[in-house]
Amino acid sequence: MNTETLEPTLTEVNMNSHSLHIKNIAVIGAGTMGNGICHVFSQNGYNVNMMDVSQDAMNRAIATIAKNMDRQVSKGTLNEDEKLSSLARIKTFTDMAAALKDADLVVEAATENIDLKIKIFKEIDAVAPEKCILATNTSSISITRIASNTKRMDKVIGMHFMNPVPVMKLVEIINGYGTDRATTNTIIDLTLSIGKVPCVVNDYPGFISNRILMPMINEAILSLQEGVAGVEEIDTIMKLGMAHPMGPLQLADFIGLDTCYSIMNVLHMGFGNQKYAPATLLANMVQAGFLGVKSGEGFYVHTPGSKELIVSERFADKKWKM
Ligand code: CAA
Repeated sequence: MNTETLEPTLTEVNMNSHSLHIKNIAVIGAGTMGNGICHVFSQNGYNVNMMDVSQDAMNRAIATIAKNMDRQVSKGTLNEDEKLSSLARIKTFTDMAAALKDADLVVEAATENIDLKIKIFKEIDAVAPEKCILATNTSSISITRIASNTKRMDKVIGMHFMNPVPVMKLVEIINGYGTDRATTNTIIDLTLSIGKVPCVVNDYPGFISNRILMPMINEAILSLQEGVAGVEEIDTIMKLGMAHPMGPLQLADFIGLDTCYSIMNVLHMGFGNQKYAPATLLANMVQAGFLGVKSGEGFYVHTPGSKELIVSERFADKKWKM
């Protein structure tokens, strides 16, 4: 490990990938996280079966992957042949059994909803080969609870990628109560083989990433709600004062306010501590459908293709209060 950057060296990546027995990966869900996960696995030589109930969603996902690979080609970090061979390694499926037939690993990246995830894991467990590891990209739902709905608790693990997946270096790996050491080691090696940095944590609400990130975002929303400062001031303070690439309100829009709200609820219920109660402003914005980038408006107004940061009219008054 390079101690300055905490990134794996090339030698470590190659050494670790030698011990891997994973070749075929099925990714469930063709949304933002699903397409990013397919992108990085295919780019690193793995055969990827993308599975979703909607063929249209998968067609859009493939177009997004191609567009994001074009950025890499124009930067010289990928060449045109590598782009075409990576795209050729991705196949799309609407049938779970067909998608999982030869899978060594399944990564589930469906909507962040406990009932949906449990339903999907029961289906996966019924058709996936016996040796297959089942990973979930959940950002906060209990791995142990998901695993307890399968007959292979030892092979269920959290593999939490960050958005945008092709750019962010971290994979937070979450051991459920029943996850065995061999499964964790395989996922660590796999993470290194795609040039990312694994961090292993235990199964507590929000794990580490969202236990720390979401209360910060919620506190930024509470500060806005109380009129301590406006959207621009809050984000500028955190960007310029703390060197965050995005301010917390911009990041909340980027992640999706519905996702932030559901993670805060997981923390609130999981710890039973009032300090995790979601801000009323966050709850209201979610109820009203102001979800950030995905709906076109949150704390900012988002126009596809534009990187300009325009504060929503609703927060234009700096002394704004709900
Ligand atoms: N695919 C491939 N490359 C991409 C990309 C994508 N989807 N998105 C951006 N890039 C590349 C760009 O090509 C560019 O590459 P170079 O540096 O080689 O030029 C680089 O990433 C930076 O992109 P941009 O210049 O377009 O924009 P930027 O400098 O404003 O950076 C950002 C954008 C990387 C998203 C940066 O703002 C950032 O790091 N933001 C914070 C992201 C973050 O915190 N993510 C975690 C969210 S939490 C989460 O995901 C988990 C959860 O559970 C909620």
